[in-house]
Amino acid sequence: MHKPKVIVTRQWPAEVETQLKALYDVQLNTSDIPFTPEQLKHAFQSADAVLTTVTDTINAEVLSVENIRAKIIGNFGVGYNNIDIVTAKAQGLVVTNTPHVLTECTADIGMLLLLMSARRASEGERLILNKQWIGWKPTQLIGQKVTGKTLGLIGFGRIAQAMARKAHFGFGMKIIFFNPSAPDQTIVDSLQATRCDSVEEVLSEAHFVSLHCPGGAATKHLINEERLKLMRPSAHLINTARGDVVESQALIKALKEGWIAGAGLDVFENEPNLDPEFLELNNVSLLPHLGSATEETRLAMGNRVLTNIAAYFAGTEPPDRVV
Ligand code: DGY
Repeated sequence: MHKPKVIVTRQWPAEVETQLKALYDVQLNTSDIPFTPEQLKHAFQSADAVLTTVTDTINAEVLSVENIRAKIIGNFGVGYNNIDIVTAKAQGLVVTNTPHVLTECTADIGMLLLLMSARRASEGERLILNKQWIGWKPTQLIGQKVTGKTLGLIGFGRIAQAMARKAHFGFGMKIIFFNPSAPDQTIVDSLQATRCDSVEEVLSEAHFVSLHCPGGAATKHLINEERLKLMRPSAHLINTARGDVVESQALIKALKEGWIAGAGLDVFENEPNLDPEFLELNNVSLLPHLGSATEETRLAMGNRVLTNIAAYFAGTEPPDRVV
């Protein structure tokens, strides 16, 4: 029987690659070197399904390639701001993502960064690694207590809600949030959360602000100089969403000049080429986009893509279709 041709742009968990080999005429990326735009275009010309991920820029130019063969993009990732959805739709492509399976692990990284930033963990580790620690003292690396403080969430989707649960039930934090649409009130009530009328209100009230909005043009530089200045000088900003939601230069200025106390970042503008000034700062905790990086989650993400393309090739609706 003729097997659909599938191209995978990066290396995936071994179990998922084994499944792909069994089911499809698959081209894997064993070198794991990201595709160039030319390679991406060629993939769209030569495969029925292109399995991309958040590091692939699937823009109008790539999608407007002549003689396009691909019918479906199975994106390995819940965020799909790497794909020009408008052009994909115009080209008749189906696009799927991998929601649900990375919610808890990404929220865990949010809490990890919140704690690291509050308790100056990165600074402390550097002290030890640089062999500068000369012993305990009452005034060393004094951070901020987390328990009982207010966590402000910008966006209140699945990951924000998971982080709110961890923060509220684990650390007794008060939850406030801004979300453009009204979320399920039973969830809001279960967290004793308060919906704010604006991003500004969250920024000015919260001790910790965590970002959970999608990336893309609508949220680019949502957190800018003006908004950072609204935060408490003792506040911390956590970003596990997308790098360009925060204007890097404004955040660097805020951290240098003490408008806020610290930041915990898992995502950056122009990843992986983050602004080198971040490396010079003591009051920032930096992680290399680890949100979904657990064995269980990455396997589940791959399986989610398998389910989506299997549904498509069986002529049924892929469960995680976004376009
Ligand atoms: C996503 O899925 O969007 C993350 O950024 C990578 O797991």
